[in-house]
Amino acid sequence: MRVSVVGLGYLGAVHAASMASLGHEVVGVDVDVARVESLALGKSPFFEPGFDELLARAVGAGRLSVTSDVAAVAGARVHFVCVGTPQAAGSGAADLSFVEAAVSSLVPHLGPGEVVVGKSTVPVGTAARLAARVEAVGATLVWNPEFLREGFAVADTLHPDRIVYGVPDGEAGRRAAGLLDEVYAAPLAEGTPQVVTDYATAELVKVAANSFLATKISFINAMAELCEVAGGDVTRLADAIGHDQRIGRKFLNAGLGFGGGCLPKDIRAFMARADELGAGEAVAFLGEVDAINTRRRARMVELAVEVLGGDVAGARVAVLGAAFKPDSDDVRDSPALDVAARLDGLGGHVVVHDPQAIDNARRKEPSLAYERDLEAALTGADVVLVLTEWRHYRDLDPARAAALVARPQVLDGRGALDREAWQAAGWTYRALGRP
Ligand code: UDX
Repeated sequence: MRVSVVGLGYLGAVHAASMASLGHEVVGVDVDVARVESLALGKSPFFEPGFDELLARAVGAGRLSVTSDVAAVAGARVHFVCVGTPQAAGSGAADLSFVEAAVSSLVPHLGPGEVVVGKSTVPVGTAARLAARVEAVGATLVWNPEFLREGFAVADTLHPDRIVYGVPDGEAGRRAAGLLDEVYAAPLAEGTPQVVTDYATAELVKVAANSFLATKISFINAMAELCEVAGGDVTRLADAIGHDQRIGRKFLNAGLGFGGGCLPKDIRAFMARADELGAGEAVAFLGEVDAINTRRRARMVELAVEVLGGDVAGARVAVLGAAFKPDSDDVRDSPALDVAARLDGLGGHVVVHDPQAIDNARRKEPSLAYERDLEAALTGADVVLVLTEWRHYRDLDPARAAALVARPQVLDGRGALDREAWQAAGWTYRALGRP
C-alpha cells in the first residue's frame, strides 16, 4: 500500500523504514532539509541499534522516498503523523504547534476515504479537535499511540506489546481501523493484543503508561532515599518486592532516575492538561514523582562532594555516560549530563566520556571537556562517576582502571558495576541507595 509519514524524527524515521520493511511504498516528509538529505542517502541522523540496516534496505529497495515537499503524500491511502510534541517554553504543557502544522499541511492533499493516523503523544482532547478538520475533506482520523523505547525502537515498532486505535463511532471508524489493520498486517499485528476504543481513551493510554513507568522508577528511588538514611540496600529490596508478580522486577532499577525525550515531558504535560480539565488533583502525585526524580541528581552531586572531602574545585572528575540511557545518543533531559554540568558549576574539572552521545552532549553543554577514549577519560581522575549503564563501563577491568586514576573512588549512579569486584581491586565504591 502507498502510505505517507509526516515528521521524520526518531519516531517517524523508524516508523517509515519499518513500514517499508513490511512491503509498503512509503513517502516520508519532513521540513528539516538536512534530515531529509541524510535519510535520502540511507544515512541515519541518530544512533539506534538496527536502524541503519533497516533504513539502507528500505531506501536501496526503492520502497522509501523522503522529501520536504508535503504534496508528495498525494495518492497515499494512509498518512501517519509522527511529529514531536515538546514541552512548551515556560510551562509544563505540550507544544502542539508541530502537530497543528502537520495536519494543516496534509489536509489540502487528502482525498475521501483516506486515513490520517496520529502517533504523536498529545494532550487528551487533541484528536477530537483535529478530527473535524480531517473529516471536512472526507478522510478519517485514527489515534494510534506509539510505545517504542529508544535503543529498542525497531523491535518495538515491528513487534509491539499491543496496538491501540482510537476511532470515531460508526462506519467511518470501522473502515479506517480495517485499513490500518491492512497496513499492520502480519508479522507486525499477528498475535498482538489490540484495543480499539475512543479518541480520549487512546490518547490517555499513552500518557497513563508513561506516568506509570515514571512512578515505578520514582517509587524505587524514594525507597533508595529511605535506604540511605536507614542503612538498607535498595537493590536487594527491589529484588525482593519484584518477586511478587503483581509488582514485577522491571523498571525497579534505582539510580539517577529517568530522563529522555518522553517520560519527563509527558508527566508534566499530563499535569498541565489535567489542570485545564479541572482534574489537577487526580495527577498531583506526578509532581512528587518528578521531584523525587530530580532529587536523585542532587544526591549524586552531594556524594561526589563528600568523597572529594567537601570540595570539588580543582578535582578531576571522570563522568562515564552522557546519554539519558545506554544504546542511545540522546541527551534530552539526561540525568548524566545534568550531574556533569552541576559538578562543573562547582569548579570541578569534569571530563565526560560516552560511546555515542559526545557530539549531542557538546552541543548542549559546550563548556564541559569531552574524551572519546575511555582510558584517557579515567586517567588522573580523583573520582569516577558511572552515570549511564553502557556495556563498556560494566566491562571495565577494575584493576586496570585503578592503575589509571589518581584516587580509586567510584560512584555507581546506575547500579552498573560489580561492587565486590571493584572493592576487591582496591576501589572505594559508593552507590545511590546502597550502604
Ligand atoms: C519511554 C517508554 O518506555 C516508551 O514506552 C515510550 O514510548 C517513550 O518513553 P524511553 O524514553 O526510550 O521510552 O526510555 P525507557 O527505557 O523507558 O527509560 C526511561 C528512563 O528511565 C531512562 O533514563 C532510564 O535510565 C530510566 N530508568 C528506566 C530507570 O532509571 N530505572 C529503570 O528501572 C528503568
